[in-house]
Amino acid sequence: MTATLTNPLRVGLRQERVISPQCLVIFGASGDLTHRKLIPALFDLFRQRRLPSEFAVLGCARRPWSDDEFRQKMEAALASKIADDPESWKTFSAGLFYEPVDLQKSDDLVRLGKRLEQIDRQRATRSNRTFYLSVSPAFYGSGCRALAAAGLLADPKRSRVVIEKPFGRDYASAQELNRVVKSCGQENQIFRIDHYLGKETVQNILVMRFANTIFEPIWNRNYIDNVQITAAETVGVEERAGYYETSGALRDMVQNHLTQMLALTAMETPGRYDPEAIRNEKAKVLQAARLADEAEPWNCCVRGQYGPGGTSSDPLAGYRQEPNVDPNSTTETYVAMKLFIDNWRWQGVPFYVRTGKRMPKRMSEVVLTFKEAPVHLFDSSGGGAPGANQLILRIQPNEGADFRFEVKAPGSGMRSRPVDMDFSYDESFGEPSDEGYVRLLADAMLGDPTLFTRSDEVEAAWRLYTPLVELIEQQPWQLPVYPYEASTWGPAASDSLLARDGLLWRRP
Ligand code: BG6
Repeated sequence: MTATLTNPLRVGLRQERVISPQCLVIFGASGDLTHRKLIPALFDLFRQRRLPSEFAVLGCARRPWSDDEFRQKMEAALASKIADDPESWKTFSAGLFYEPVDLQKSDDLVRLGKRLEQIDRQRATRSNRTFYLSVSPAFYGSGCRALAAAGLLADPKRSRVVIEKPFGRDYASAQELNRVVKSCGQENQIFRIDHYLGKETVQNILVMRFANTIFEPIWNRNYIDNVQITAAETVGVEERAGYYETSGALRDMVQNHLTQMLALTAMETPGRYDPEAIRNEKAKVLQAARLADEAEPWNCCVRGQYGPGGTSSDPLAGYRQEPNVDPNSTTETYVAMKLFIDNWRWQGVPFYVRTGKRMPKRMSEVVLTFKEAPVHLFDSSGGGAPGANQLILRIQPNEGADFRFEVKAPGSGMRSRPVDMDFSYDESFGEPSDEGYVRLLADAMLGDPTLFTRSDEVEAAWRLYTPLVELIEQQPWQLPVYPYEASTWGPAASDSLLARDGLLWRRP
């Protein structure tokens, strides 16, 4: 069964707002994120005609590149994208500039200020600036201070700062970083980015819930038995051991991406669609969330690390054998846990959250499993009781949603069997969704903070995991890192976490 558009107009589905003239300044422009995500996203915006002609990108890093070198490096990295449309790249790349800047050196900041004024004259960018901190998280605080000291954040209407994750390493450091950042500008100038919130399907959680009358009345403890939130990746640590060794799956994925999915799934209905109304509800639900066993977190959390695996023709290295990983590393590449939300809507409903690298499938989803029918009148076609209804929000890939329910199996008896009603973005809208960064860069440049994390939200997210973070730091033996073979669904202990509640992880 497939959901189709009632009015399947292929054009005019997008409603886009106009970005004002401005210069986007990327610190850390020689890093991965710039050529893998940011410049491709900006180029997409350009091709969608969403960028004004008075637009510039100024890449900044310590390397002594020239404008041309920066353009060439970006061109090489985007080669396949550019091949479709070389003319557009020519026009777009004329607005790319580069300035060697060390954020720790005040002379460099003075030079940066002058370069920005020059760009304002050259590209008519009118002193509107979005500063993107794609630098090591250790420099977020000092980076903001340097910008503020140079007077570059003085006008709250014309300047804003985008800060990548992870925002802090734990509750205390997130609070401290918030204090520093807020001393440099107003909260509405600060855009804490979580690229999951840029995904169409993550935003769709809100629309599914609040634009349909059928879901909201049953979206609570009376009807929902449990919720599973998964972000599984097939990739390993890739070339990012330097960062990942200090972060692990808990800090890299759970505290931010999975927690954001949790917040959107569990929040109360906002009074209106407005940045503060949405973020108030997200902060509130995170404040009510807790680990299922805060006193003894090892009862509700499992950590794992991938070992070697794959096939003889395509062997996969274990985490400890990856380049630049400590051969005795205890960094987790997999984590699963059980949470509760202590409020009227969710009291007693378990939320199971898991993420892992080197899983058999790339898949992010939110699965709401409804309570079973109180009386089973019919046998299921597989014997036993009929399955419970499930709503599966597919974040990626094959973006969409799936509703599973029982129907009569053909034949003379009265058996039931489950079927799926499926909605696919691709089939219904006929165009692939934009990358999360496309939406979020545009929103930051528009000054729309709805899809960015507010200071209290980020602190609530860290507070939620504090018992776990402390346990890992102070008594790591209490939470061993179980090995799992690469390309499998994580350690057996994570299955036991659900088995204790008579449940299974969904295995698509
Ligand atoms: C990043 C993490 O934030 O998200 C990576 O640092 C992870 O480790 C990535 O691979 C996953 O993003 P996506 O959009 O591919 O699910």
